[in-house]
Parts: sequence; structure tokens; C-alpha cells
Amino acid sequence: MDLSVSLNRLNLKNPILVASGTFGYAREMAAFVDFAELGGIIPKTVTPAPRPGNPPPRTVETASGMLNSIGLDNDGFDQFVAEKLPYLTSLGTSVIVNVAGKTMEEFERMAAVLSQQSGIAAVELNISCPNVSGGVDFGTDPELAARVVTAFRTTCELPVIAKLTPNVTSVVPIAKAVADAGADAVSLVNTFQGMAIDWKRRKPVLGNILGGLSGPAIKPLALRIVWQVKRAVSIPIIGIGGIQSIDDVMEFLLAGASAVQIGTANFYNPGLANQLIRELPDAIRFLRAETPKDIVGTLQTP
Ligand SMILES: Cc1cc2nc3c(=O)[nH]c(=O)nc-3n(C[C@H](O)[C@H](O)[C@H](O)COP(=O)(O)O)c2cc1C
Repeated sequence: MDLSVSLNRLNLKNPILVASGTFGYAREMAAFVDFAELGGIIPKTVTPAPRPGNPPPRTVETASGMLNSIGLDNDGFDQFVAEKLPYLTSLGTSVIVNVAGKTMEEFERMAAVLSQQSGIAAVELNISCPNVSGGVDFGTDPELAARVVTAFRTTCELPVIAKLTPNVTSVVPIAKAVADAGADAVSLVNTFQGMAIDWKRRKPVLGNILGGLSGPAIKPLALRIVWQVKRAVSIPIIGIGGIQSIDDVMEFLLAGASAVQIGTANFYNPGLANQLIRELPDAIRFLRAETPKDIVGTLQTP
């Protein structure tokens, strides 16, 4: 079956990708994953300068999910381009570089460098991380979100995906704004802000107090957002949130996602994305369809 999908200027061999922050920079996963089979890899977010991240503890398990407050721990953009990107672009799959910045200028500087690199399929703008403070919160304001996309598009020819936060009253106006600014696609969603408490110590569990909730616990919320945005914007959607089975993948495609990302599940089943790619053709045939494209957004509602 031809599993390929096109998200405007971004063409993928299949719609199953691995999500930023849950797959390292791929090298860590080499023993468990057939990289070349994946629809794409989105490495951990990089920022212009190295960041130590938040104080520990930085993760805690919750019912059907986990909270993390990693805080964009990374070695910085220059080190990424020099040392991690060459490995990533040698793996035979689409590499979607994920970047975050504190100012418009930071995004522009990274855009200029990325536009000179070969082998990158697209850039995902992380304007949605709930675990960092300082700088401008681009992802919760439609106008600022659109300005980041415009700045990036002006400086860099690569396809641009805006990864949006669910921590707003409605994602729809932000999705509309980035679509109007020329984003090729939107990734929905990043983690939901939450917290965990150790009542016996009268202390928050996470060093950062607040963290981002991910995993199966958020799947119904993410599905709802994908469905709402699909009805409001025409650019393709990449669905993310709690996916751990082929049923989950199919639900996101029907809700309106053209592709999906596997996140938290990589931590307990690193081979999951490979398995889902193999299971996808039968699920599509079950709906008497011939390609993933045929079923995107075909949910029948009363
Ligand atoms: C430990 C951890 C680290 C993450 N780091 C990033 C990150 O650096 N950049 C980013 O855009 N998203 C990051 N995310 C969010 C995921 O990419 C994804 O959007 C979210 O976890 C929801 O999907 P899931 O429920 O399948 O995990 C992180 C998630 C987790 C659990």
C-alpha cells in the first residue's frame, strides 16, 4: 500500500513520526528502531544557547500518563548543527528539526543557519513548551504566533510546522493565525500543564512545581483539539497525544490528522512506531480505503 502523505511542501513516506523530546537525537534509539522505516524523526528541541533545564525531579508517573518538567535541556543550536544533525540526516528518513527561541531574532538566526543545511525535511517551531519561563510566550497569542511563522518563512525556504500548546482557551484562533502566516502544517498538541503533590512532605513532586502531562491520559483532549482545528483551518494537522496503538492512530486520522507523532509511548515501547507502520495498511483496508489520505477527516458525525 502507498502510505505516503503530503503536508503541503513536506512529503513523508508514511504518516507515523516520532515526537520531539521522546526520541533523543535518535542515536539513543538505534538498538531498538528501524529508522529508515519511520515517516519522520523530530529530535529534541534545540535552543540558540545551551540550557541546563529545570531542577530535578523532572518526571513523575501519573494515572495513564506522565508529567515532565525537563525545561528544554539541550546542548545548544550550534552543537546540534555540527554534531547531531549529520547523524540524523544519514538515517534514511525525514528529519524535522524542532527549535525554540525566546525572541523573534533568535528564531530568525536559527532559520538562517538551517536554510544552509542539506538533508532537513522541515522545521517544527516549538512555540508551545509549558516548562520554560522567560522570553515571550509566542504560542498563546495568535498575532505573535503568526509573526514567528512569518519571520521563519522569510528567512528559510524549508517547510514550516507550528507546534501549538493546548494550554489556551481555544487552539483554533492560533491555528488560523499560523495558517494565514504560511505555516505548512500544525502539530497538535504539546503537553497539558499539570502538577503532582507529595502530601506527606507537603511538597510538590517536581522541582519546577509545574510540568506537562502526556500519555494516554491526554488522548481524548488531543483528539478533541484536532477535530476542532480540522473544521476551522485547511492546512494539514499532525496529531499528537497519548498514541499507543493502531486504534489510536486511526482515531486521529479520522478526526482530521494527516499524520501523527508517537511521544511518551517511545519510553516504554521504542519499537512502537515501526509496529504501527506495519499495522496501518490492514486498518485502512478495514475501512475499504486504499491510502491514509482517503480516511483523513472522514469521521461521520450526526
Ligand atoms: C519527557 C518529554 C519531553 C518532551 N520534550 C519536548 C521538546 O523538547 N519539544 C517539544 O516540542 N515537545 C516535547 N515534548 C512533548 C511531546 O513531543 C508531545 O507533544 C507530548 O508528549 C504529547 O504526546 P504523547 O502523549 O504521545 O507523549 C516532550 C514530552 C515528554 C514526555
